[in-house]
Amino acid sequence: MTEKIIYRQETQNDFSEVFELNNKAFGQDNEAKLVNALRKNLNVFIPELSIVATEKNKIIGHILLTKITIKDNNGNLNESLGLAPMAVLPEFQRNGIGGQLIKYALDTAKKLGYQSVIVLGHEHYYPKFGFEPAEKWNIKAPFDVPSNVFMAIELEKDSLKNISGTVIYPKEFESV
Ligand SMILES: CC(C)(COP(=O)(O)OP(=O)(O)OC[C@H]1O[C@@H](n2cnc3c(N)ncnc32)[C@H](O)[C@@H]1OP(=O)(O)O)[C@@H](O)C(=O)NCCC(=O)NCCS
Repeated sequence: MTEKIIYRQETQNDFSEVFELNNKAFGQDNEAKLVNALRKNLNVFIPELSIVATEKNKIIGHILLTKITIKDNNGNLNESLGLAPMAVLPEFQRNGIGGQLIKYALDTAKKLGYQSVIVLGHEHYYPKFGFEPAEKWNIKAPFDVPSNVFMAIELEKDSLKNISGTVIYPKEFESV
């Protein structure tokens, strides 16, 4: 890969290309529609955390972090972020672009003052970027899932130390 890849915040002009990218990467439009729906939910959408990778002005990757809530046994609510979805065009995969998108997104989230990120994903991939099984903090998914694929990362040291409970995803995720 010789061309320079640029990582930046998505703009309105990118929406249709991001839709096509998700459609191609997932082989279905569920995730593409999810991104459209999440953008409209201003309670959870953070424009700076919808990030694209571009090469020669073509969008080749996208990652989205949205607000989620961790609810503990006493009903206390704590804000976190959920990483989903992310996608790289099939012909550009396995070049580290996904990894760069994750790093850029985590870095931006930290700069914005967010404390943690949760992901449901591949157990060997996300730990490369610092994610650990969320059960370490007694944080649970709202559905049955093997414990090693439900992961979390602290963006500040010990930011999850006193947080536990069940993740509540935005309602838009129910349709995926
Ligand atoms: C997941 C994805 C974004 C990774 O993008 P990428 O640019 O290829 O990522 P990187 O180059 O940083 O890393 C690639 C590595 O991650 C592994 N990987 C990442 N996610 C994986 C997954 N869901 N299943 C299997 N392997 C995965 C790849 O096997 C590869 O490992 P290897 O090269 O050691 O074999 C890309 O594969 C993709 O768009 N997949 C389809 C959509 C999807 O499943 N998204 C994730 C769920 S939201």
